Amino acid sequence: MTDARKPDTEYIKKLFPEVEEIQDANLKDLVTKVWLVAMERGGWERIDSIPFTLLVPPEATLVEHTRRVTRMAMAVARERYDLDMDIVVAGGLTHDVGKLLEYEETGGQIIKSRFGALVRHPVSGYAMAMEVGLPLEVAHIIAAHSAEGEKVSRTPEAILINHCDFIDFDIAKSTAAGF
Ligand SMILES: [Fe+2]
Repeated sequence: MTDARKPDTEYIKKLFPEVEEIQDANLKDLVTKVWLVAMERGGWERIDSIPFTLLVPPEATLVEHTRRVTRMAMAVARERYDLDMDIVVAGGLTHDVGKLLEYEETGGQIIKSRFGALVRHPVSGYAMAMEVGLPLEVAHIIAAHSAEGEKVSRTPEAILINHCDFIDFDIAKSTAAGF
């Protein structure tokens, strides 16, 4: 008997239609795979309604934020011509995958997990990316998209995702503050 609730590749592709923008078939598979690994490890059956941040009132879900950051980054990359679009899309789509380990659901509430208190999502996301075999350039984007990245030299694609992520986060903060 198959479990209808078990997430599969199609579920991920439906959540993140931008996966289809990745030209490299192997990279496309690995982006889908890392989300499935994170869902299984975090114990999530569905991820549609997880908030993207616990730091300000949830203005968007993790899926909406992930798609928005990816599409903003793609728009900038199209204007520049000097960035690797596949890496931009893959990095955008996976930069927050570690949040599936950083958060947990308890009594209908999403809270920070014990794991998340000890290991932030850029670190856990990087680890899962390496585990499934995503290219180092993508794992680097995940590892360096937050403050953790201040300690390394970001690639151009990582600079792009870092900025697009903070455009979305800072606007959420500003909106929450009533501006
Ligand atoms: Fe993010």
